[in-house]
Amino acid sequence: MKKIVLALLAAAFAAAAPLAAAQTIKIGFITSYSGLNGNLGPYMERAVRLYIKEHQKELPPGVKIELITRDDTGPNPDKAKQLAQELIVRDKVNLLAGVIFTPNAMAIAPLATEAKVPFVIMNAGTAVITTRSPYIARTSFTLWQSSYPLGQWASKKFKSAYTLVSDFGPGHDAENGFTQAFKAGGGKVIDSVRVPLQNPDWAAYMQRVKDAKPDALMVFIPAGKTATAVMKNFSDLGLGQAGIKLIGPGDITTEEELPNMGDVALGVTTVFHWSAAGPRPANKAFIEAWKKEYGANETPNFLSVGSWDGTALIFEAIKQQKGKLDPDKTMQIFKGWKNPNSPRGPISIDPETRDIVQNEYLREVKKVNGQLANVELETVATALKDPWKELQKSQPQKK
Ligand code: PHB
Repeated sequence: MKKIVLALLAAAFAAAAPLAAAQTIKIGFITSYSGLNGNLGPYMERAVRLYIKEHQKELPPGVKIELITRDDTGPNPDKAKQLAQELIVRDKVNLLAGVIFTPNAMAIAPLATEAKVPFVIMNAGTAVITTRSPYIARTSFTLWQSSYPLGQWASKKFKSAYTLVSDFGPGHDAENGFTQAFKAGGGKVIDSVRVPLQNPDWAAYMQRVKDAKPDALMVFIPAGKTATAVMKNFSDLGLGQAGIKLIGPGDITTEEELPNMGDVALGVTTVFHWSAAGPRPANKAFIEAWKKEYGANETPNFLSVGSWDGTALIFEAIKQQKGKLDPDKTMQIFKGWKNPNSPRGPISIDPETRDIVQNEYLREVKKVNGQLANVELETVATALKDPWKELQKSQPQKK
């Protein structure tokens, strides 16, 4: 009798085994749903959800992903730290991901180290961030990656430039990266101005630029509504008519703001790792899937691409470990990751720095079928590693 009961129990357990093996991977996803850039959080979340929907079937049997979303309320490191702490301690997440703003990423970095929770940065772009924790990998960009080749290109076109950047990490990097390359190419930077991150008096700054009469104005501001304010003031004060050319990393012509900017954006030239107008088949498929899921008038932006590729990176770690994530093994897998077919072109994670390696494209805002688009003109850098870290090896750079 006892034997039969045991046999039955064993059979019941065997039948239940696939269920018992079911595994939920929790991703603590922190981005901005309110405050400065509050409209951009959903561009990241939608990309993660779309990737999961399209690729869920590739996960090991029984493995599910739970995305726990949190609002860091904009550039707010204390809030970001508190959210990451709760996600780690209370929700016991396997991974942290997301994050638009550098100060927030910097605040989370020590927690990722302490708790050994891999942290996939899908936007924040100050070069130094990845050095702050061995548990960070970044699938977005660094500002040096766009601004350094921009400076090289600009030095062949313009004699003088003026730089105007938001006064925080990515702004400093954009200014330094651009200036170093522009000067090395023989250009002269007339003046460099750093403006408050929130609500600067744009008209006053633009007047100063106009009076200085540079050939080009290089601007970095956080993507989103601020970019439209820059564009409007540049136009209202007649800088274009005065012969000044507006250039910058692609943050100043972010896709979702182009319709709000209107024709003043025409001709603005930028360097960036992606554009919605990029002709790559994987990009076309990405845009098509986005429109099918979210509506014909919806377009992803670069924050979406960083989040899409970041989710692909996480999937690779889950697949290789068959759903049982070990943080150190996860980081090992991240370091070897490559995707020849991202919407932005071939990408990989640099095993040494855990930063993304990618192409940079020169783009110009043009009208395509009646709509403003960042048309890619040429590839100005191929498989580019973060130049700040590369230069750091030979000559220490300013942070
Ligand atoms: C950042 O804080 O690192 C950041 C924010 C917005 C951008 C780019 C970088 O468009």
